[in-house]
Amino acid sequence: MIPFPALQRPVVAAPMAGGPSTPELVAAVCAAGGTGFLAAGYRSPEDVTRQIERTRELTDRPFGVNVFVPAPPDEQPGSSAQQAVLRYGDRLAPLARQLQVELPRVDWADDDAYEDKITALVQARVPLASFTFGVPDGEVVERLHGVGSCVVVTVTDPDEATRAARGGADALVVQGYAAGGHRGTHAVQTIPFDREWAEILRETRTVTSLPVLVAGGVMGNREARLALDAGAIGVQCGTAFLLTDEAGTSAAHRAGLTEPSLDQSVVTRAFSGRPARGLRNEFVDRYGDAAPAVYPGVNQLTAPLRAAAARLEDPQGVALWAGSGWASARTGPAVDVVARIAG
Ligand SMILES: Cc1cc2nc3c(=O)[nH]c(=O)nc-3n(C[C@H](O)[C@H](O)[C@H](O)COP(=O)(O)O)c2cc1C
Repeated sequence: MIPFPALQRPVVAAPMAGGPSTPELVAAVCAAGGTGFLAAGYRSPEDVTRQIERTRELTDRPFGVNVFVPAPPDEQPGSSAQQAVLRYGDRLAPLARQLQVELPRVDWADDDAYEDKITALVQARVPLASFTFGVPDGEVVERLHGVGSCVVVTVTDPDEATRAARGGADALVVQGYAAGGHRGTHAVQTIPFDREWAEILRETRTVTSLPVLVAGGVMGNREARLALDAGAIGVQCGTAFLLTDEAGTSAAHRAGLTEPSLDQSVVTRAFSGRPARGLRNEFVDRYGDAAPAVYPGVNQLTAPLRAAAARLEDPQGVALWAGSGWASARTGPAVDVVARIAG
C-alpha cells in the first residue's frame, strides 16, 4: 500500500480531459495546499510526459495523472454495437456536411495508447496515478507501486469499490451523480447510479476501509465539510475550477457555462457513448436519444463535429461538461476556489 500524500487542505483539482486540466492549474492548487491531477485522456503519451515535466517546473509538491482504462477484450463492441455506431454516423452526417467536416472511420482497436501512458507514468514516477472507467490490472498496479505511485481508482457504486479494493487500489474516488463530465462507470453499458456520493460512500464503507475522495457537486465549504464529516480524506472538484484563470477550458465551453439560456445540466451519451453530465445544448437535444452506448466509437465520430463547433466558439455544438453545481462556478485564480472550498 502506498499512502495518499498528506494534504494541507483537503481539496483536489479533478483531472479534466479535453483541455481544462493544465500544469498551471495543478501547480496552483498544490501551492494552495491541495493537490491536482493532470488528465492523460485523449493526449499522446509524449504530451503527457511533457505536461508532467512542466508541472514539476512549477511545483515541488506531489500531484497526479489520470488515465482512462480501456474496456477488457470481452467487452469490446460486437457487430451489433458497431452497426449502431455506424447508424449514429448516418444521423450525424447532415451536421458534418453543414460544418464541412468528414466523419472518421471508427478505429475499433483504439485504447487511447493505454500501455504507453502507463510506461510514461512509471518512467516519470508520478506520486499519484488515478484511473477511471475501470480497475487497472495487477501488473499495472505492481509497476506503479514499484516506483512509489499511489494508485487511485474512481468508483460509482459499492461493487466497483469492491473490485478496486481487490485489484490493489490504495485510495478511491467515490463519484456521485452530480459530477460533471464522464461518469466513471466501469462498464460502458452500465446505467449510472442515480445516487449522491454520500449514499455511495456509506455503502462503500461496508466493503472497504480504503481512503476516499468524494466527487460530484462540491462547489463550496458546506459540501466539503459534509464529505470530511462522512470520513472522506478530501474532495475532488472539477466544475468549481472550470472558469479559473489557470484552467485550459475552451472559449466555447466558458461561453456555455456563462450563457443564461443554458440552464440545465443533464446526463447524456450524445458526445462519447458513455454517460456524462453537461449542460443541455442543441447537440444534446438533437442527438442524445439516438446515441448508442458504445465507447470510444461514438467519441471518435463526434470529435470533428465538436472541434468544428469549438473553432466557431459555438457552445451549442460542443460538450459543455459540468456538474450540477455549475451555476456557482466563478472566474478568478484557482487559489480562491481552494480557499472557498477548504473554508
Ligand atoms: C470538463 C470535465 C472533464 C473531466 N474529465 C475527467 C477525466 O479526464 N478523468 C476523470 O477521472 N474524471 C474526469 N472528470 C470528472 C471529475 O474527475 C470529477 O468526478 C467531477 O468533476 C466531479 O464533479 P464536479 O464537476 O461537480 O466537481 C471530468 C469532469 C469535467 C467537468
